[in-house]
Amino acid sequence: MQGPNLQHRALLDTMVLTEKGARFELLEPDTQTRLLLLVSPCKNDTVRILIDELRPVKARYRVPDVITGEQQCEQLRVERRSRDSVTLSWSAGRHQVCVRRSPFRVEILCEHEVMATFNSEGKLWFETLQGGPRATSRGSELHEDPPPLLGKEVFGQFADVTADVPSSVGADFCLHGFGHVYGLPEHADSLQLRDTSDGDPYRLYNLDAFAYDLYSRLGLYGSVPLLVAHKDDRTLGVFWLNASETFVNVHYSDSDPQGDQTPPVKSGRPQTDVHWLSESGVIDCVVLLGPGPQQLFSQYAQLTGYPSLPPLFALGYHQCRWSYDDEADVKAVDSGFDRHDIPYDVIWLDIEHTDGMRYFTWDPVHFPEPAALQRHLEEKHRKLVVISDPHIKVDPDWSLYCEARDAGHFVKDREGRFYQGSCWPGESCYLDFSSPATRAWYSRCFALDKYKGSTPSLFVWNDMNEPSVFDEPEKTMPKDAVHHGGWEHRELHNLYGFYQHMATAEGLVTRSGGSERPFVLSRSFFAGSQRHGAVWTGDNVASWEYLKISISMVLSLSVAGIVFCGADVGGFVKDPDPELLVRWYQAAALQPFFRGHSAKVTKRREPWLFGEEVTAAVRAAIQQRYCLLPYWYTLFHQAHTSGLPPVRPLWVEFSKEQSTFAVDSQYMIGAALLACPVIKPGVQEIKVSLPGSGEIWYDVHSAKAYEGGKTLSLPVTLDTAPVFQRGGSVVCRSTGSGSCTAELQQLPLSITVALNSQAAADGELYLDDGHSFSYRDRKAFCLRRFNMLSGRLLCRPASGDGAFDCDTVVNSVTVLGLKSKPSAVTVHASGCEDTSAAFQYVETCCRLTVSSLQLRVATAWDVQIL
Ligand code: NOJ
Repeated sequence: MQGPNLQHRALLDTMVLTEKGARFELLEPDTQTRLLLLVSPCKNDTVRILIDELRPVKARYRVPDVITGEQQCEQLRVERRSRDSVTLSWSAGRHQVCVRRSPFRVEILCEHEVMATFNSEGKLWFETLQGGPRATSRGSELHEDPPPLLGKEVFGQFADVTADVPSSVGADFCLHGFGHVYGLPEHADSLQLRDTSDGDPYRLYNLDAFAYDLYSRLGLYGSVPLLVAHKDDRTLGVFWLNASETFVNVHYSDSDPQGDQTPPVKSGRPQTDVHWLSESGVIDCVVLLGPGPQQLFSQYAQLTGYPSLPPLFALGYHQCRWSYDDEADVKAVDSGFDRHDIPYDVIWLDIEHTDGMRYFTWDPVHFPEPAALQRHLEEKHRKLVVISDPHIKVDPDWSLYCEARDAGHFVKDREGRFYQGSCWPGESCYLDFSSPATRAWYSRCFALDKYKGSTPSLFVWNDMNEPSVFDEPEKTMPKDAVHHGGWEHRELHNLYGFYQHMATAEGLVTRSGGSERPFVLSRSFFAGSQRHGAVWTGDNVASWEYLKISISMVLSLSVAGIVFCGADVGGFVKDPDPELLVRWYQAAALQPFFRGHSAKVTKRREPWLFGEEVTAAVRAAIQQRYCLLPYWYTLFHQAHTSGLPPVRPLWVEFSKEQSTFAVDSQYMIGAALLACPVIKPGVQEIKVSLPGSGEIWYDVHSAKAYEGGKTLSLPVTLDTAPVFQRGGSVVCRSTGSGSCTAELQQLPLSITVALNSQAAADGELYLDDGHSFSYRDRKAFCLRRFNMLSGRLLCRPASGDGAFDCDTVVNSVTVLGLKSKPSAVTVHASGCEDTSAAFQYVETCCRLTVSSLQLRVATAWDVQIL
């Protein structure tokens, strides 16, 4: 991972300023390698650094389809120029880049302070397709003639024959003043990235990792090469756009050499050095300059796409198992939820629902009437999700296989034959989702007239799409397999699942004529997968440690833009004891994607199988989730329009509070709620650190107020799932949970106003039809703002946009932290006489509840507390 340091020089007199930025040539004198450097500042406070070969013998892979749209570049101005450096500025001099000649560096400055230095340790590494630089071929040892374009590495019985000479690339960044970095999912590790000096680097290589190890930096199912650094006055991101196998080393230290002083002066200021190394491709990285977490999330969303707005049902509870046996089993589980008064929205079918693992088919014995089954569920407004993996059984008698084969939709091996590997169906071919034609074909496979037995209430689960191949090294596709355009698998390995997810989501949209929002869950992902749907954390285990890590993993995914994520409730492998199961439901009800799932050999674990105490606790957790869905949906709309993740590490909301920077057992749901799930067995009390001195926090269950900046010991029982509402916020809930989200939409809302020390609060609510694109195409939505000041709560439009015809009413308002009993409460609604409202005041917890209101949420009204 360290490699030799090469002394690149920037040839400053080759600088050309274009509308795309500044172009330079780089030279490595020992190897005579010449590279091209492009530094492009973009409109949204980001800087892109691209390095490729100056005169490539053939094009190198540049990751397509991840960056959305043209990034608009800023005009660069030359600020200063000398023999040794050139300083360029943009956005009225607020931002600058200084390109230093020798040793070559690029410093990125904000308000004249160096934030990040590219190549600060001289680790820039670029193996050209001409064959250099090689670890062993420096100076006079260099070959004059390029070596033949073929390499071979042997691992036991397997050989990896590269089509080209090795073509790895790498670079390092110093992040000045930063002592905390996050991101780089997916790893089963803490939220804050660890210093890798004493062990393995973080590996980004998508793999099928059954019962994966904890606290390991090996690659899991998906990869997002985004690293986010935070300090109290700046949040900064480094996005390394490369889809080949990538390693990242992180080194925290305290010495930050100021300026060019040699030896470096120890300043005691933190810094983080980050070293990236990828197997192939080009160096293409974007530095996101913040300055705060909100701007950073917005910059990242502008770059790789905003998270899609899920249909409302997808935020409800999902019931899955590998596998439900047959239609009768599905119906029995479905009615079990009704019988036990537990809301749920979706039941899932794993691989056995198919005819011999041929996706898009149904087992004729166990699922003879799939459409009738879906109609049965749909009558209760519930959905069916079925699995669809990327491997296609080699079966010349199966029309779908023949169609794909005849149209050449499979990945090939290096000899040009269709690559075959083994997965659930046995010998299989793998669809080449990197090909637009294959994606279009695959999308069409979801058409209702093509996918026999499917109806509009069927949605999809993409699994095994790292891709998983049972009989290959590391259980994945060999790197020398060949994709569309002749690209080797090594170039785009980490993109494979991203593309399947994309094609499936497009298929579901197209199937509805473009009117309905899709829902697709994928196991594998890459940067940008947030546009296509949800992901989950794969084959976890039923243990307390895995419950704990699910929180860090969900936070890490959220920081990296993959905001719709969750973990298998209860743990996929092994059987949870009832206490663990309850705690897992409670924790997962506070995470974005909420699905119970378990492996084939596990015992059945529908929530009513463990006695009334467990059923009641699980029921309460799921019902509370449903009551909170108006808030979750509003947060998903916010993510969709601003990039802000619904679940956030504490430092996102308390960005100046150092003590929050490493916390990953508590987190924020939006800006209003602090989640502190119980993740240890046998606990009667938990410690809660309430952030923000001067803040007030209200326990949502008891309404009791606590001061921020303190640690609290909170007694808990099996049915406690601690959540606190932040003073200054307004949260909308549903007054009941219904049996599924469609029922929930018919219920009135209740509003909880949590007062801060100025007796003020505000918040938003987003509503639409919950399933179609009308919110986008016809602006059929309603975005309301609730604002409380001087005892008056106002409900007003939050934006001029949007008109949604809805009858939803608010029937109660609860105010937390009201110091004294009001003499009266009056209601003023536009076009109506002022009326007085019934209320109840509980002095012991300073809680006012105004009830029996019938205020339409889409109209303007005020509630005045006198
Ligand atoms: C592996 C997945 O991770 C798991 O969730 C699924 O149940 C099995 N494949 C079988 O499809």
